[in-house]
Amino acid sequence: MSRPRRGESLSLTIDDLAFGGEGVGRADGYVVFVRGGLPGDRLRVRLAEARARFGRGVIEAVETPSPDRVEAPCPYFGRCGGCRLQHLAYPAQLAFKAKQVADCLQRLGGLGRFEIRPIVPAPELYGYRNKMEFTVAEVAGEPVVGLHEAERYDSVLDVERCLLQPDALNALLDEVRRDLRERRLSVYDQAAGDGLLRFLMLREGRRTGETMANIVATAPEIETLAPLAERLRARVPSTVSVVLNVNAKKASVAVGTEEHLLAGRDHINESLGGLTFQISANSFFKTNTAQAERLFALVEAACALTGMETVFDLFSGTGAISLLLAPRCRRLFGIEVAATAVEDAVRNARANGIDNCTFLSGEVRHHLPELIRNGVKAEVVVADPPRAGFHPKALQALVALGPARIVYVSCNPGTLARDAGDLTRAGYRLEWVQPVDMFPHTPHIEAIARLTRGG
Ligand SMILES: C[S@@+](CC[C@H](N)C(=O)[O-])C[C@H]1O[C@@H](n2cnc3c(N)ncnc32)[C@H](O)[C@@H]1O
Repeated sequence: MSRPRRGESLSLTIDDLAFGGEGVGRADGYVVFVRGGLPGDRLRVRLAEARARFGRGVIEAVETPSPDRVEAPCPYFGRCGGCRLQHLAYPAQLAFKAKQVADCLQRLGGLGRFEIRPIVPAPELYGYRNKMEFTVAEVAGEPVVGLHEAERYDSVLDVERCLLQPDALNALLDEVRRDLRERRLSVYDQAAGDGLLRFLMLREGRRTGETMANIVATAPEIETLAPLAERLRARVPSTVSVVLNVNAKKASVAVGTEEHLLAGRDHINESLGGLTFQISANSFFKTNTAQAERLFALVEAACALTGMETVFDLFSGTGAISLLLAPRCRRLFGIEVAATAVEDAVRNARANGIDNCTFLSGEVRHHLPELIRNGVKAEVVVADPPRAGFHPKALQALVALGPARIVYVSCNPGTLARDAGDLTRAGYRLEWVQPVDMFPHTPHIEAIARLTRGG
C-alpha cells in the first residue's frame, strides 16, 4: 500500500459509514473518510488530510452515485451541521443505524449471543423535533439566526426554515429574525464577548400545539425584549410562553443563570402516554415526542411489571419514564443530577395524581449506594444515561443491587456496549437489543437493551 499525499486526487468506492455518518472508502488499502460519501458511491475525492493510518477526502465529483443516494430537500444540506444523512434514502439510514448497534455490541462489548430486534422507524421524517436551538450572530454586518456550519463552529448559517422543526417553530424563527433586523437589536459577538442576544431556543408541545420562545441574552434587558415577546404572541398565536434566560458568561451555552418571564407563562404543556408534562425552558424532554412515546411503550413492556415491584429509574430527567411506569409498580425511585429536572418531575407527578414516586437529586454513583445501604431493594431498574454511560462506581452499585431485570435506554451504542459487557461479566445476560430511530437524517442512534440476572 502506498500512502497518498495531501492534495492528491483519488478515485474510490465508499463501502461503509463511520459512527458520525462519514463515508469510509479505501484507495489501494489506504482508509479515507469522506463527508457526504455514501456506501455504493464511486467518488473522486481530493485528500484534505493525510495521516499515517487514514486520510480525509473532500468530494470533487460523484462518478457513480450509490443506489441509495436521494436528493436532500433542505437547501442548507451539506453546509449546515445539523443533518448529515438527508441524502441517504430512509430505509438505508435505518439499516446503517441497526448495523452500528450490532457492530458496537459485538465488537466493543464482546457480547456473543443475543437477539437484535428490528429497528423501529420514526413515524415522521421531517418536522419531528419539539425543540430547536439557534445561534444569534452577526454576519457581514447583518444579524442572523441560525445553525452552525458543519465543522465550522465559528460560522453561523442564517437558516430561514429548518425542516426538522414544525411550522409554528419556523414561524417563530422568522418573526425573531425580522424583529432583530427591523429594530437593529444588539447581537452578541463571541470573540469580543459583548452584545446582547445569543441564542433562540424554541419548543412545541406536539400534542398540545403550545409553543415557547426562550431568548438567551447577556443581560436582563426586559424593556428591549418586551416588544419582541408581544410580537411573537400576536403573530404566532400558539405562543403561550416567552422567556428570557440570562447568560453573561463566556461559555457558549443556551442555559441561563436567571430566568425572566416576558409574556404568557413559564412553561408549555405536552402530553405523552396519557400523562401531561409541564416543560419549562431548561427542562430535559425527549426531542421527538411521537417516537418517545413508542420508545417508552417498549421500555414499559420490557419491564414486565406486575404491580408489586420496586423500580429504580436511573438518570430520570424530568421523570417521563418514572411517571409512565409508576401506575404499574408498587413504588419507584428516580435519581437525577439536575435539580431543576427533579423539580419538574415532582411537579409533574403531582399534576398527574401520582404519589408512589420519590425523586432524588444527585449523582447515581452517590444515591444508588445510599439506597442500598438503607435497605431499599429493586426488582427492576431502568437506566437512561447520558452519552457517557455509567460511571464505574454507579455500575458497581447496580451490580450490588442485583435487580432481576435491567432495561437500558442508550443514546450511544459505544457506551451501551461497554456497560452491557461489564454487566454480563457480573452475571447478567443480554437478552435483546432494539434500536429506535429518534432522529431521522442525523447519525444519532438510540437503542433499548434488556438484561436479566443469571439466566
Ligand atoms: C438521556 S437523559 C434521561 C432523561 C429521562 N429518561 C427523561 O426522559 O426525562 C439523561 C439524564 O441523566 C442526567 N444525568 C447525567 N449525569 C448524571 C449522573 N451522574 N447522575 C444522575 N443523573 C445524571 C442528565 O441530567 C439527564 O437528565
